[in-house]
Amino acid sequence: MREIGNNIEITVNDLTVSYNDEGENGAPVIIFIHGFPFNKSMWDKQVKALKENYRVIAYDVRGHGDSDSGTGDFSIDLFADDLLSLMDELKIDKAMLCGLSMGGYIALNAVEKHPDRFDALILSDTNCIADSLEAKEKRLKTIESIKKNGVEKFAEESIINLFAPESLSTKKVEIAAVREMIVNTSKQSISKTLRAFYERKETCSRLQDINIPVLIMVGKEDKITPPEAAQMMHEKIVDSVLYIIEHAGHLSNLENPIDFNSQLEELVSSVYY
Ligand code: MLT
Repeated sequence: MREIGNNIEITVNDLTVSYNDEGENGAPVIIFIHGFPFNKSMWDKQVKALKENYRVIAYDVRGHGDSDSGTGDFSIDLFADDLLSLMDELKIDKAMLCGLSMGGYIALNAVEKHPDRFDALILSDTNCIADSLEAKEKRLKTIESIKKNGVEKFAEESIINLFAPESLSTKKVEIAAVREMIVNTSKQSISKTLRAFYERKETCSRLQDINIPVLIMVGKEDKITPPEAAQMMHEKIVDSVLYIIEHAGHLSNLENPIDFNSQLEELVSSVYY
């Protein structure tokens, strides 16, 4: 029997996972995967926009929000396995995935391994390349700095890079919400996730095999996964659509939800008409 509502707990891969599940029984399913180190609440405006016509699920990735972290190391493979196990537990054969940044890494990994389980893909502010040597160095330095200076300092430094310069003065509520999500993530989970990014494999070489509808969105001022990264994925994924979101940095769904939702709704209604 399906449970509808927010902060529902389920055991997946021996782990308690927290998720929101809204919308009609039997409606097409859209699953949202958040970025790092945030949680499912970052999708509230998208869930609200779609729940009238679709079944919409947003869950907390292992170690984030209200989901447990388990005992071992994290990896993008493990995060993707958790997603597939969640779909199995919820008896969802097929769904559309929408992932932002880390959520996009997870979505690409899942689609690569299980192409038959997905109807369409929304890749937002994400990338298909593995970390460069320089990026890997930076991950290690960040892990050290978090150990030494704590998560609050990490949150302050992250916010400058996450948001577009104009959002830093216009999006106070969103910034406060993001800060809250970051500081509520444990030091250990943040470090384990950074290590998973360090180890992450590229997915660019398999993009040409994707044959479902793909919408790629990116904030015009995304400094973390810039528009060039989105353009590169767009060129590799046959028939994909690329949309650059104005007035947004890395958190395009929070910084410009109107444009983000309008592209999202257009794609969803073209797939599930
Ligand atoms: C994210 O938003 O998920 C992260 O910025 C991803 C990353 O650091 O690679």
